[in-house]
Amino acid sequence: VYTRLSDAEENERIRLAKNDPKNLATGVQDAAPRRDQRATMHDTAVLNARPDEHGITYKPLDAAHAEDVAAMESQVMGSDAWNAALVADELPRADRTWWAAYASGEGPDAGPVAGSEGASSARGTVLVGYAGGMVIDGQVQILKIGTDPAWRRRGIARQLISRVASDARDLGATTCSLEVRASNAGAQAFYESLGMHSIGKRPHYYSDREDAVIMEGPLQGVIGSSAVGGAADAKALRAVTEDAGIQESSVDVAGMTLRVDEAHDAQKAAQPAAQLERPLILAIESSCDETAAAIVDGKGNLLSDVVASQIDFHSRFGGVVPEIASRKHIEAICGVCDECLDVAAQRLGMERLTWSDLDGVGVTYAPGLVGALVVGVAFAKGAAWAADKPLVGVNHLEGHMYANKIGAPDFAPPAVVSLVSGGNTMLVHMRGWGDYRVLGATIDDAVGEAFDKVAKALGLGYPGGPVVSAQGAKGNPKAIEFPRAMMHSGDMRFSLSGLKTAVVTYINNERAAGRELNVPDICASFEAAVVDVQVKKAEMALRETGAPTFCLGGGVAANPVLRAAYGKLCKKMQVRLVMPPLSACGDNAGMIALVALDRFRQGKFYGLETDAQAHADLEQEY
Ligand code: KG4
Repeated sequence: VYTRLSDAEENERIRLAKNDPKNLATGVQDAAPRRDQRATMHDTAVLNARPDEHGITYKPLDAAHAEDVAAMESQVMGSDAWNAALVADELPRADRTWWAAYASGEGPDAGPVAGSEGASSARGTVLVGYAGGMVIDGQVQILKIGTDPAWRRRGIARQLISRVASDARDLGATTCSLEVRASNAGAQAFYESLGMHSIGKRPHYYSDREDAVIMEGPLQGVIGSSAVGGAADAKALRAVTEDAGIQESSVDVAGMTLRVDEAHDAQKAAQPAAQLERPLILAIESSCDETAAAIVDGKGNLLSDVVASQIDFHSRFGGVVPEIASRKHIEAICGVCDECLDVAAQRLGMERLTWSDLDGVGVTYAPGLVGALVVGVAFAKGAAWAADKPLVGVNHLEGHMYANKIGAPDFAPPAVVSLVSGGNTMLVHMRGWGDYRVLGATIDDAVGEAFDKVAKALGLGYPGGPVVSAQGAKGNPKAIEFPRAMMHSGDMRFSLSGLKTAVVTYINNERAAGRELNVPDICASFEAAVVDVQVKKAEMALRETGAPTFCLGGGVAANPVLRAAYGKLCKKMQVRLVMPPLSACGDNAGMIALVALDRFRQGKFYGLETDAQAHADLEQEY
């Protein structure tokens, strides 16, 4: 699987390097505290945004400090020193990672670096060390590492190189190399202590013609015992984090919180599932930003349902970044599947469950982010082939329809389903299992997308749905009259982009007029506009099809105002309302496993040529 540094991350680096003060509190620098949290979970203590015991703070290097680096370079590197322009030129590059160490203005022994009057001193901190690396072909080459002589013996070099190495690992590196002066035995011993060894010499490498010793070693040694964010051993971590009394236990896999829904409420009645009911199918879901795996048995019981969410990694970019999603799926998928097998084994009272104990492997193959889907599809194909089990491909949207079975096992078509998520907004007539007709869909944005964009305009963060909904609960839905686009279009299509623009324009106008925003009223009024149109079109769909059941699917189906409004509509129309439990509204593999079970029974298997697809026709024959 080919993944690369995300454009978003690259842009963030460029913005940081532009030395705009408002940017310095965002983006890459924000990674430090988050990493610190992960480090705590892993019982390690590095990558700390707060000062360490020596009063040193570590941050990604920004362009504002290029002068300081150049000043120290000329002090410690002599004629091989880099100037500020050279340093600044490095920072926005996608394959580079630079870190700096800062100390408070009063140095312990010698104070600030001589001659350094750069941005650090102006802010009451001084730069006391820096390191930069370049990632090429799976290797990070340390370009520079320097520390202020007055601040040596405080582990600064070790901390800096560890951070550069950790970033490099995120960029795909597995080894580390650098050059060191042949006469500098102390530095060579230091690098040896990090697991590196000499692999040769570069004659006359330095400007004074001294030779350089080339040293190389595995990245893990350089990151050290302080490693963070690496593929974690889910079992070991579970021992630390498991809370036996709760339904959902969470562990940490590759820095992601992994949620284990051991049994959804409606399925608890089915426990214990000690009797092994064939077929046993493990299904994988990776279409967007959740890596998930679930095992279903022949009776439709979900024996395990594991979700690792990447939301933390995407939230600072205000939305899902496809490249990050792909990388995180790769990091998480083994741990998630292992955990899924372990939980199912526990539920069945077995010591162990392996791939060969299964009868089939299911996987979401479409629609979604193709780079994300391909991780699940490739993994599922590999597993199915290795264990010699049949493969079943599943359409993600069909999964959302099947999610209704999780809350109501007797749910069956015919029904009208409203699919509302971050990527879809549509009404579908389910004439039978596998027999679908799309009644109407959005012509522009999806509902969840509109929630996310309104939240972004209000500075409420990502994902927007839950936070807009929480704010809206405190506001007046009639306070602001937002447009109800296509309400009277006479068909079942939707349009959300006009509403989104109206809300953003309202916010901008209020700000321009100097009025304080009433966030709860804005959220409540926006929600009311969304819900009015959804309900109107749902009513039309129910009348046109005469379906006796109405059901929901997708992340926005968790919205309480929408759920209540549909409740009222269905009561009025005397139609059965079925809704997935809140935990099954968003992406999960339980719903994919339920589809895979049906397909397995029908003998509808997929070949190993199956590929991920960004789009898929829901109306095709299954
Ligand atoms: O189905 P989902 O988890 O992912 C895909 O889009 O595939 O849906 C995520 C979307 C996001 O846009 C999120 O803001 C929205 O669902 N969402 C909500 C709520 N919870 C999640 N929207 C409105 N109200 C909510 N309570």
